[in-house]
Amino acid sequence: MDVAVLISGGGTNLQALIDACAKDDFPARIVMVISNNPDVYGLERAKAAGIETKVINHRDFENREQFDEKLDEALKQCGATLICLAGFMRILDARFVNRWKNRILNIHPSLLPAFRGLHTQERALESGVRFSGCTVHFVNPELDDGPIISQAAVAIDPDQDADQLAAKVLQLEHTIYPQALKLVAEGRIRVIGNSVRISDAKYADQTIINPIVE
Ligand code: GAR
Repeated sequence: MDVAVLISGGGTNLQALIDACAKDDFPARIVMVISNNPDVYGLERAKAAGIETKVINHRDFENREQFDEKLDEALKQCGATLICLAGFMRILDARFVNRWKNRILNIHPSLLPAFRGLHTQERALESGVRFSGCTVHFVNPELDDGPIISQAAVAIDPDQDADQLAAKVLQLEHTIYPQALKLVAEGRIRVIGNSVRISDAKYADQTIINPIVE
């Protein structure tokens, strides 16, 4: 499966996907990395891996629709059939999302549907929940919403701060994102309404991870 990865920042999740795709038996490859920010380290990661990169700077466009049109054009040109959002911090408009229905994955640093949006770990700590984590999901037009493919949870240590918690969660992100991409690329995923069915029980078990991160 040919995948385009969209980034806005440092791209550690992109790196996890690059590393997974480099394995011989991995069923997907990254054909293009697109950033809406020109000077982010994620672009260097892509170049180092020999992946084509493109900057589509949202500041060059009058509105979201024009930006999304340009994005759509670039995606079609590179032949991607799946989009992975990896720290892509732009909202995509409903027309774009519907055009790519069930073909856009996102990773979000919370156990959705809790804590959509920004500052997730600060909000998790403030709210007193016992677990944080991350979610890979198909993208709906609403922010951080859509059928959930996999999640990983981590117990919250009340003595840790938001940055420490974010670092723990980020480690989990690097595990579940390649795993979810593999499931999608192998055609094991079926979306039924707002939920996802995974065809192979062996893989279904693996999508629930509660690792203790030291
Ligand atoms: C990750 O924690 C990702 O889950 C989050 O941005 C970070 C990007 O880090 N994405 C969102 O919050 C999307 N709503 P990275 O650039 O090192 O992959």
